[in-house]
Amino acid sequence: SPKVAAAKHQDEAALKKNLCVKAAKEHSIPQDLNKVLENKVMETVLGLSHVKLSVVERTCSGDADSEGIVSKSVSSHSDLIPGVYEGGLKIWECTFDLMDYLAEAEIEFTNKTVLDLGCGAGLLGIVALQGEAARVHFQDYNSTVIDEITLPNVVANCISEGRSGKDRKTSNPPSKRLRKAEGSPDVLSRCRFFSGEWSQVSQLLSNSKPCSKYDIILTSETIYNPDYYSALHDTLAQLLDRNGRVYLASKVHYFGVGGGVYLFEKFIEDKNVFRTSMVKTIDQGLQRCIMEIAFKNSC
Ligand SMILES: C[S@@+](CC[C@H](N)C(=O)[O-])C[C@H]1O[C@@H](n2cnc3c(N)ncnc32)[C@H](O)[C@@H]1O
Repeated sequence: SPKVAAAKHQDEAALKKNLCVKAAKEHSIPQDLNKVLENKVMETVLGLSHVKLSVVERTCSGDADSEGIVSKSVSSHSDLIPGVYEGGLKIWECTFDLMDYLAEAEIEFTNKTVLDLGCGAGLLGIVALQGEAARVHFQDYNSTVIDEITLPNVVANCISEGRSGKDRKTSNPPSKRLRKAEGSPDVLSRCRFFSGEWSQVSQLLSNSKPCSKYDIILTSETIYNPDYYSALHDTLAQLLDRNGRVYLASKVHYFGVGGGVYLFEKFIEDKNVFRTSMVKTIDQGLQRCIMEIAFKNSC
């Protein structure tokens, strides 16, 4: 079929560039949520808890990091190793830009189906969950990121069991001693977690019944590498609902990698599937922006 042929072509193109096409996988949510938070030290930012990376770097080894990305990233002093580690261990600054924009523009999540694409710490998906989204799916290239960073963050931010009133009022991360997460609270039943390369994940989601289409796709700092534009574009086209919206946060240019917002905008224009509009630009430090993407024929 044309779909299979297109996927095969993408796989071959990636292989030619010596990129490993990481297979897609759905991660199950452990029954015992206390295990998810075991050995995790949390920090707080903008009222959200997240796993403290320096502790993960010291403690994440062996079984917890079967991909070996923590040691590879530390030993190569690099936040990006193409096809091996795609940056999800740390929180990139455009995530905060997009969180600000979602609040300023009062983007409505209630009862929406949302995908946090290239989620890393998953803060954008967590914002959607807190905004009463009906379903939130999280995707990262690396399975270690999903297991050691994304899932713990969702659990730490979205379960109320065991949190003292004091923790809640001050937005402190749930204190370790008091944290007890029993059973699977409602919020986790609204979440699914996936790892793998975009074209593979897109295939997995498209084949799942009912087929997943998203009202909102949130994606931050995912257009740094032009080699991935085709897979990213086709994934958005495959997974976005006919009248859905993508909110993409990015630096204007990624020095050293070559990607950037104008290059991706041009790529989209040439494909003639989506329309784009720049809804916010941020000029402090490196120039950054938020782009809204919708199907050309959408309302
Ligand atoms: C630089 S990180 C940004 C993480 C997070 N969105 C943030 O802003 O903090 C880029 C993310 O995009 C995802 N990504 C990049 N290239 C990918 C690819 N070819 N296939 C699947 N995921 C990819 C990785 O999962 C990675 O977490």
